[in-house]
Amino acid sequence: MAKVELRNYRKAQTPVRTLLRLFRYFKHCRLILISAVASIIVYTVATIASSYLMRPLVDLLENTVLPHSEVYAKYLALLIGLAGLYLLSAVTNYLLNRLMLECSTVIMRELRTELFAKMQRLPVSYFDENTNGSLMSYFTNDIEATNELLQHSITQMLISAISLVGTIAMMLVLSMKLFAIMVVLAGIVTVVVRITTRVSSRSYRAQQKNAATVNGFIEEMISGQRDIKVFTHEEKVMEDFSTINEALFTASTTATTITSIVGPILNNLSHIFYAITCAVGVVWLTGEGAGGILITFLQYIRNFATRVSQISEQFNSIMLALAGAERIFSVLDLPNETDEGTVTLERRGDEYDWVPQDGVPVPLRGDVRFHDVDFSYVEGKPVLQGLSLYAKPGQKIAFVGSTGAGKTTITNLINRFYDIQGGQITYDGIDVRSIKKDDLRRSLGIVLQDTHLFTGTVMENIRYGRLEASDEDCIRAAKIANAHYFISHLPQGYDTVLYSDGANLSQGQRQLLAIARAAVSEAPVLILDEATSSVDTRTEKLIERGLDGLMRGRTVFVIAHRLSTVRNADAILVLEKGKVIERGSHDDLLALKGKYYQLYTNMTELA
Ligand SMILES: Nc1ncnc2c1ncn2[C@@H]1O[C@H](COP(=O)(O)OP(=O)(O)OP(=O)(O)O)[C@@H](O)[C@H]1O
Ligand SMILES: [Mg+2]
Repeated sequence: MAKVELRNYRKAQTPVRTLLRLFRYFKHCRLILISAVASIIVYTVATIASSYLMRPLVDLLENTVLPHSEVYAKYLALLIGLAGLYLLSAVTNYLLNRLMLECSTVIMRELRTELFAKMQRLPVSYFDENTNGSLMSYFTNDIEATNELLQHSITQMLISAISLVGTIAMMLVLSMKLFAIMVVLAGIVTVVVRITTRVSSRSYRAQQKNAATVNGFIEEMISGQRDIKVFTHEEKVMEDFSTINEALFTASTTATTITSIVGPILNNLSHIFYAITCAVGVVWLTGEGAGGILITFLQYIRNFATRVSQISEQFNSIMLALAGAERIFSVLDLPNETDEGTVTLERRGDEYDWVPQDGVPVPLRGDVRFHDVDFSYVEGKPVLQGLSLYAKPGQKIAFVGSTGAGKTTITNLINRFYDIQGGQITYDGIDVRSIKKDDLRRSLGIVLQDTHLFTGTVMENIRYGRLEASDEDCIRAAKIANAHYFISHLPQGYDTVLYSDGANLSQGQRQLLAIARAAVSEAPVLILDEATSSVDTRTEKLIERGLDGLMRGRTVFVIAHRLSTVRNADAILVLEKGKVIERGSHDDLLALKGKYYQLYTNMTELA
């Protein structure tokens, strides 16, 4: 069954540190923030003051001394004051929301940029170890959570906190005695709330967890729809779905039942609380203005209760949102791909040069050598052991061997997606570790085993191999890759737009484009990892001829399961468990009657 990540339901581990770090981003919108905080203060003061006006209003109602006309005048003044305060709080409320929105938009842009830039700087191993889905969720869930935090939660928290302090201060001014009673009652309510929320949040969490499982399952089944149909698993899938859907139903029922009980209890509790304060107030408060004090105080009690419950709700959502921000920061803190290389490789016209210390450029020939290379992806599980090989300029070297033998790994090491643990790899006699990574990779034309086509035109996708290449260069490369014919038959030819990894092309056509892309780079070394595995053998022969012309005097590595692809290589290396077990030309290896002979005869038998 689908494994679902419950990352959204975890709270932040270091909330304070994360919050402080997030606050540092406010430097990008300092002025807006200051104005927003000022609006928040004015807003809360205005709302607290408007409640306070109750007191003189009630006093006026109770008044028996002043003449009518004077009472009306005061009454009018108070109403105008009240209207003014409401207006002020409405305006500042609008302002503070608007300003915080602006602020968070600015910060979001910064965070997204930093995060995306980080993705470009992380080593390939990071992408091998993490699924696309979990990487995407940094940009979707976590960014969204942080945005919510900045836009609403923090603002609301500030408003509630300032307002709470103001309310308490006003209560103290009004009546110390009533305040003391309220503190005792508030203590009781807190205990009850704590118990009930523990019960309700447990059931709520269970519901969330089940919902995540259902969603994860649906997502996986939708993306795997083809495979489900191929293996006719529809009924099995439906059964599995019914089970987890039923579990969600049960959890939701429990959650809603509990919430529907807890809600009224809490509501009634606050009513009782209100009634007790009212009763005590009537008995305790005597003398002139007692009515005004009591009614105003009761107003503040409501205010107090709302603010406290707001703070506790916001506290939870802030902790969840901070977990999102925390995850973003943890990615930003990952070490970048390091590059200690100093030697530069430069392209001059059709040739590449490398520049040694004395500064006189030397043409790059494309001589690649492995000396006793040891490598493992995971410590203790060697993939390549004591591997030695050489490819002289102009040679075509082929790797064959069973699945998982380590062929792709060799290419990962030449372009330094991974670094070796023992031995040495040299490129024209220079240790690859001392060459600048960008230069190194630019000087290698590689067709990856699982190559990716980007959304864009066919022309743009070919030009990906070398951004400076002209249209003519791209078309020439497409002809070499034998892709020109099918491209000219596409609806808009080279301007046809490819969508989602070239889904509107056949597998083989995608490979031809990938080869064209490598050909346009005109690099001194070309590496083809199963580049023609989905291409028919006749087309493959044509590509081979084209590439032979392009790569004359340059080095080509070919990896292929189809042995006809590698037949004419200068040397064929047979790999097994990370070691070269046979090497030689096609004829040599056949005469040897070893592994290659076995593979070859098996293949022809099967064919
Ligand atoms: N990113 C990785 N992390 C850990 N182990 C890996 C990684 N990539 C490959 N391996 C392991 O290294 C070994 C060699 O893999 P490699 O991809 O080089 O095989 P291959 O010869 O190219 O196979 P195929 O013919 O299927 O393409 C395999 O056992 C594989 O499981
Ligand atoms: Mg491979």
